[in-house]
Amino acid sequence: MPIVLTMAENESRTLPSRRIFLVIPLAIVATVFCNTAFLTGGRTTNSNLYQSDSPLSFAPTVKNWSSSLSSITTTTTTTTNSRGTNNITTQSSPDKLLRQSTLPDTANINNQTISHTITNNNNLTISHTITNNNNNNNSNNNTLTKEAKFVRYDNVAIVTKIHGPHQWKLVVQSMCLLHFAYNHKVLYDVIVFTAEPIPVEDVESLQKMLAPAKVSIVIDNIGLQEEIAALTPARYDKFMERCNVSSPVNLTWFSNCRGELNGGGAPTRLAYAWQAEFRSVRIWHHPALADYKYMLWLDTDGFCSKPWEKDPVEYFIKNDGIIMFDHFPQGSAPSSLQPLILEGFNASACYLRLNKKSGNLERTLIDRDSDESCRIPNVHGFFHITNLDFYRSPPVKHGLETLLGDCFLCRSPDDQLAVTIPAAIFAPERSWEMRSKGFKLNVFHNHAFDGIDKAQPPGFVRYWEEVGKDNVPSTSGMHTCPITERD
Ligand SMILES: *[C@@H]1O[C@H](CO)[C@@H](O)[C@H](O)[C@H]1NC(C)=O
Ligand SMILES: *[C@@H]1O[C@H](CO)[C@@H](O)[C@H](O)[C@H]1NC(C)=O
Ligand SMILES: *[C@@H]1O[C@H](CO)[C@@H](O)[C@H](O)[C@H]1NC(C)=O
Ligand SMILES: *[C@@H]1O[C@H](CO)[C@@H](O)[C@H](O)[C@H]1NC(C)=O
Ligand SMILES: *[C@@H]1O[C@H](CO)[C@@H](O)[C@H](O)[C@H]1NC(C)=O
Ligand SMILES: *[C@@H]1O[C@H](CO)[C@@H](O)[C@H](O)[C@H]1NC(C)=O
Ligand SMILES: *[C@@H]1O[C@H](CO)[C@@H](O)[C@H](O)[C@H]1NC(C)=O
Ligand SMILES: *[C@@H]1O[C@H](CO)[C@@H](O)[C@H](O)[C@H]1NC(C)=O
Ligand SMILES: *[C@@H]1O[C@H](CO)[C@@H](O)[C@H](O)[C@H]1NC(C)=O
Repeated sequence: MPIVLTMAENESRTLPSRRIFLVIPLAIVATVFCNTAFLTGGRTTNSNLYQSDSPLSFAPTVKNWSSSLSSITTTTTTTTNSRGTNNITTQSSPDKLLRQSTLPDTANINNQTISHTITNNNNLTISHTITNNNNNNNSNNNTLTKEAKFVRYDNVAIVTKIHGPHQWKLVVQSMCLLHFAYNHKVLYDVIVFTAEPIPVEDVESLQKMLAPAKVSIVIDNIGLQEEIAALTPARYDKFMERCNVSSPVNLTWFSNCRGELNGGGAPTRLAYAWQAEFRSVRIWHHPALADYKYMLWLDTDGFCSKPWEKDPVEYFIKNDGIIMFDHFPQGSAPSSLQPLILEGFNASACYLRLNKKSGNLERTLIDRDSDESCRIPNVHGFFHITNLDFYRSPPVKHGLETLLGDCFLCRSPDDQLAVTIPAAIFAPERSWEMRSKGFKLNVFHNHAFDGIDKAQPPGFVRYWEEVGKDNVPSTSGMHTCPITERD
């Protein structure tokens, strides 16, 4: 059965390519708070504690934030200095600061500083500091800041893959940017799969750069000749035929064999076909990931362009996602794959689309008796968060292995179809696009932010130099990353 898989990616799907991967999990829901001044005050009325040589007057602004009133928390902060005691009462609901009030309207206070922090149920923190001094009547300058707290969750791994040392600079650049854009706040373990060994000094240097995050480099195969020797006879014979050789002795990762879709199609470099097979079928069961439940994947040519203000991993975990992707669709699998999908999953998904309002995938479920058949648009593979328990589960394992069949180093399923089709069939409502869910991270990949908005200038080195770095706070560690790779 001739099957053609269409990769509409405008990236080379031939290794050694820059198509590399990395994963990042994150999540946090931050809520916006009103930013308004409020009050500080001291009393003139009932206490000489507030007497001052040069009293200042403050007319406090008491702001009322309306909101749903569920679950109100009231906090009172008492601050004392040499001149007296001041109380601030704040009420907050899970999402909003509802109301703040303070002491009576006029205050005579000098040199009193009030710092006030509230953390709501979303772990969002508001800090409020007011300082009064003798020289400035405007010193009741109320600064209300909001800052999403980044919370570290258990069992999250950041994962990427390369073929070998020639792609190491990409790893350093992408992982460094990711670290300072996000991971320094949560310190998830970083796992870099590679087909060929990386010099020890390079590994140590990366570990030092990303410390205290734990960084592991994992060789993802037993050697090409050894992998071939371990094949079942059926797989071995098909592989020899596709490579047009009678003996594998001269095959290397850089040999080309017909590999598309169970032996059809144009020759593919084996290194490239290996990453497809590894990422689509094998990775879920790799021992290096056994202790993790969530994987943030980022291709090594995916570059963070600014600090992440919110944490998509937290959102993903709290809301029990299956996959959360930066971009959809990217390429599609042809309708001719339908019989194999039906065989493997006992169902398929037609009319797969993204509902931008809900942020979910939607589809029409097709059962085995249906003769309906359709192309399957894919999740873009360069950056997503996945639920490993789901992708490891027996129905998904069975489905993906059926798609692979007796094929060694074929590109079907590729990594994109492999993450898309199980989610589309079993859990579209738990499959989310980041932007629709309020996460606009602007990760640069193939000259576009989040695979969507074209970057200008298009290459990352120039983009960073001419535009990107100026958008990043000067205190950010992102400025310390070596930027040498254009994409
Ligand atoms: C503040 O808002 C609450 C809830 O909407 C309302 O009941 C209350 O009357 C308001 N208070 C003031 C002083 O406006
Ligand atoms: C401030 O709070 C403390 C403790 O809650 C209370 O004893 C005191 O009377 C309050 N002071 C004012 C000025 O409201
Ligand atoms: C307020 O603080 C400033 C700086 O600490 C100090 O110079 C000044 O004398 C203080 N004023 C009063 C009234 O305590
Ligand atoms: C908020 O953060 C703390 C630690 O900073 C954590 O223990 C708690 O579970 C978090 N709460 C929520 C609702 O995320
Ligand atoms: C500060 O405010 C008081 C009361 O409104 C006023 O008398 C005084 O002149 C002001 N001082 C300055 C430096 O503006
Ligand atoms: C309030 O203080 C902040 C931080 O010090 C400052 O940037 C801002 O300009 C001040 N605002 C006013 C109205 O004085
Ligand atoms: C296979 O190799 C033989 C020579 O070794 C060559 O003549 C033939 O064209 C090759 N077939 C394909 C499909 O590449
Ligand atoms: C492998 O390559 C060597 C050197 O080019 C050649 O002599 C040998 O015949 C090749 N073996 C096979 C099985 O193709
Ligand atoms: C396959 O799907 C059909 C519904 O289309 C269902 O009745 C049947 O139980 C499923 N078989 C398995 C093994 O899940």
